[in-house]
Amino acid sequence: MRNRVAIASVQEVTRVLSCIQPTGTVHLGNYLGALVHWVSGQHEAEVFHGIVDLHALTVTDQPKVLGVQTLELGAMLFAVGLDPERATVFVQSHIHEHSELAWVMECTVSFGELSRMTQFKDKAAKRETDFVSAGLFTYPALQAADILLYDAQEVPVGDDQRQHIEMTRDIAVRFNHRFGETFILPRAVHPKMGARVMDLQDPSSKMSKSAHSDAGIVYMLDDNEAIMRKFKRAVTDSDNEVRYEPETKPGIANLLEILSAATTTPIESLLNQYEQYGRLKSDTGEAVVALLEPIRSRHEELMSDPAELTRLLAIGDGRARTIAAATLHRVHAAIGLLPRS
Ligand code: TYM
Repeated sequence: MRNRVAIASVQEVTRVLSCIQPTGTVHLGNYLGALVHWVSGQHEAEVFHGIVDLHALTVTDQPKVLGVQTLELGAMLFAVGLDPERATVFVQSHIHEHSELAWVMECTVSFGELSRMTQFKDKAAKRETDFVSAGLFTYPALQAADILLYDAQEVPVGDDQRQHIEMTRDIAVRFNHRFGETFILPRAVHPKMGARVMDLQDPSSKMSKSAHSDAGIVYMLDDNEAIMRKFKRAVTDSDNEVRYEPETKPGIANLLEILSAATTTPIESLLNQYEQYGRLKSDTGEAVVALLEPIRSRHEELMSDPAELTRLLAIGDGRARTIAAATLHRVHAAIGLLPRS
């Protein structure tokens, strides 16, 4: 009962949490599938956004890389419009409660459940003969900790995270059943357009940081020329009719979705405006250029002052820490671990 009261007191405004890994460079899929909704969400809810460097460690073995990438990603999150006064932007490794709760989560999820995660199977297969860490396998337990630590009600993510959020709910239900009501059940929120931006060269695969080639990936820091080139070379089909049919015409459907998301125009209105693939490709490229150009220059500005960036991230760390510590305390109490005297 005491747990219920503690949870209820933080639920007056919707609590939102979502995170991104500092691996590789942020791309258009991350932006349209997640970041753009994080920015609009900060005006409606209490939002927490983590740069999850410990998740990136599952596939990183080089020293001194993650710190730099974390700072660059911090600059990107502020450049797209997250306001440090409204949004709590934090660095996962700065809040030790994430790792601590992850262990509890690992003990609440089964080996079989983790084995069914398609992201693990895909990522492990892509690494071929490379080292496949145990962390890559237990990754969803850490993700569950990220979400449950903040009593998040909503988790705005792209389509590829569906299974991970489902697993987080399953873990929360199991924990609550074993130890009493402790966690809020979060729900995934996916955008109508842009939830699954596809690779421009291989429209049957999602745009991904771990793709084998860069040619079909639009990076947030690509210059205008590179963006236009990638769109002009986008793979389509040979029947030359602009229709929205993701199953049979994935290349054209992808361009229409990107243009729709970039210009906030419904696909039905776009369909009347295009007869030729060429113009659809160049207009989509131009819409994306218009979207990314100002972000790129803000990113450059922010990167020129690393001390200020570090200060902004520290503000978020402080706020996140207070909540994470309280939740972990609640979890330990629910389990009945012996309190430290
Ligand atoms: P990550 O870092 O791969 O991606 C960050 C966000 O971008 C979305 N996304 C896409 N959306 C549309 N089309 C695409 N092609 C595309 N590619 C990526 C992802 O869905 C995600 O929303 N496991 C997570 C990070 C994470 C997390 C969390 C997310 C860790 N803890 C807690 C939410 C809550 C990941 O690897 O995202």
